[in-house]
Formats: sequence, structure tokens, C-alpha cells
Amino acid sequence: MNLLIMGPPGAGKGTQAEVLVKELDITHISTGDMFRNAIKEGTEMGRKAKEYMDKGELVPDEVVIGMVKDRLSQPDCKKGFLLDGFPRTVEQAGALDKTLGDLGIKLDGVVNIVVPLDKLMARLTGRRVCKGCGASYHVLFNPPENEGRCNACGGELYQRSDDNEESVGTRLRAYEEKTQPLIDYYKDKGILLNINGDQEIKKVLEDILKALRK
Ligand code: AP5
Ligand code: MG
Ligand code: ZN
Repeated sequence: MNLLIMGPPGAGKGTQAEVLVKELDITHISTGDMFRNAIKEGTEMGRKAKEYMDKGELVPDEVVIGMVKDRLSQPDCKKGFLLDGFPRTVEQAGALDKTLGDLGIKLDGVVNIVVPLDKLMARLTGRRVCKGCGASYHVLFNPPENEGRCNACGGELYQRSDDNEESVGTRLRAYEEKTQPLIDYYKDKGILLNINGDQEIKKVLEDILKALRK
């Protein structure tokens, strides 16, 4: 199955993706995670991306599009993939259509996690992420079994540098201006699945799986 997961910052894309890719045996492609890895490795692209990410702005389309094109043509995408956080602009969506067309791949569904925007600040400022495997936790809504340690791999938890009030404000505005229009784009293609993300994490997963089975 070839899927997209979209929704505003903090909607739960990463949280759901982690479980979904195991459940469906497909490859998780998160552009945010790819940039964070590039930053960790100290590459030129990482250095450039960090300037935008820390402020909460989108990384320029040409950088993201090139990176995703390369990623989709790798062999582990053949079994199916879940794209998380891409596309985020109309231009990226067009480029994705073109790339998938060239590769002869069809998108099966677009999972759109819907959460009222006023809930997102608390989710993001309380998020903690595993340094080892990237798993997301929340100090109140999804705390790890041992404080500061990942349940899955025991890695150290840290706070993302863009999970502060100022950057989150910018991210939410970028979402509203640039990404929200994609909801209609995929609705018109007849592959949009709206999921209520304002409920327990487990319930959100159940609803996604139910929608995908239909
Ligand atoms: P990215 O890493 O994609 O960040 P984002 O879109 O802002 O989304 P998040 O990862 O913050 O949220 P999420 O939906 O994954 O939430 P999560 O599951 O962790 O991108 C970062 C930056 O990279 C961008 O700002 C941009 O600069 C750049 N970038 C990336 N892709 C790009 C692109 N295509 N084009 C241009 N630039 C790009 O959950 C959040 C918190 O909520 C967690 O603490 C979690 O435990 C909690 N939570 C989850 N679900 C629930 C629930 N149901 N109830 C209560 N709490 C919940
Ligand atoms: Mg994420
Ligand atoms: Zn971990």
C-alpha cells in the first residue's frame, strides 16, 4: 500500500506512522526525520535546512522535492510506503504526482488527521523525542515508562529545537497558508480519508485502519 499521512504540526502523524508501518509492513518516509538526520550528520543540506526548521519555516521546495525523489526510487519503497510530512505545498504535490507517474506507482490513500488548531501548542511543547529511534512521547498525554527514556530502545529523550512557542506559531501559520489547500487537492482525487485526531492515540489508530480497509 502506498500512503500519505497529513495534518497540522502535532496532529500525530509521526505517532501513528510508527505503528502503521509495522502493521502494514511498509516503509516510513518522514521528510522532517530525514532533515533531522542530515543535521545530525552535519551535511551541507542539513546545515541549510536547519536555518528554516528552527524558525518553523518550510525548507524550499527544490531541496525537499529532490530528496524525496531519490528516496522513493530506493528498493525498500517497492513493498509500499507511508510519506509523512510531504507534500506540504501545491508545488510539492505536483512534483510527487510526476515522480510517482514516472515510477509507475499509484497512491492508494491520503490519511488526513484532523485536530482543532488550539490543541496543538500543548501537544508540541510537551513532546519528547527519542534520540535513538525517533519515537514521540508526551510528558502528559503519552509519557514513557521510565522518565527520559524510550520504551522501545531505551534511548535518551530530548525536546526538538522547533518545539517552542515561537516556532510552533510559525509552523501553524505555514500549515494554514501552504499545506491546508492540499486537503481539497486530494479530496478532488477521491483518495482523502479524514480521521478524527482529537481522541486517544489508540482510537485514532483504530479509525485509520478501519478507513484503510474500506
Ligand atoms: P516535521 O518533523 O514533519 O514536523 P511537523 O509537520 O511540524 O509535524 P510534527 O512532527 O511536529 O507533528 P506530528 O504530526 O508528527 O506529531 P507527533 O506524532 O510527533 O517537520 C519539521 C520541519 O521540517 C518543518 O517545520 C519544515 O521546516 C521541515 N520540513 C519537513 N518536511 C517538509 C516539507 N515537505 N517541505 C518543507 N519543509 C519541510 O505528536 C505530537 C505530540 O502530540 C507528541 O508529544 C505526541 O505524543 C502527542 N500526541 C500524538 N497523538 C496524540 C493524541 N491523539 N492525543 C494526545 N496527544 C497526542
Ligand atoms: Mg512528525
Ligand atoms: Zn527509541
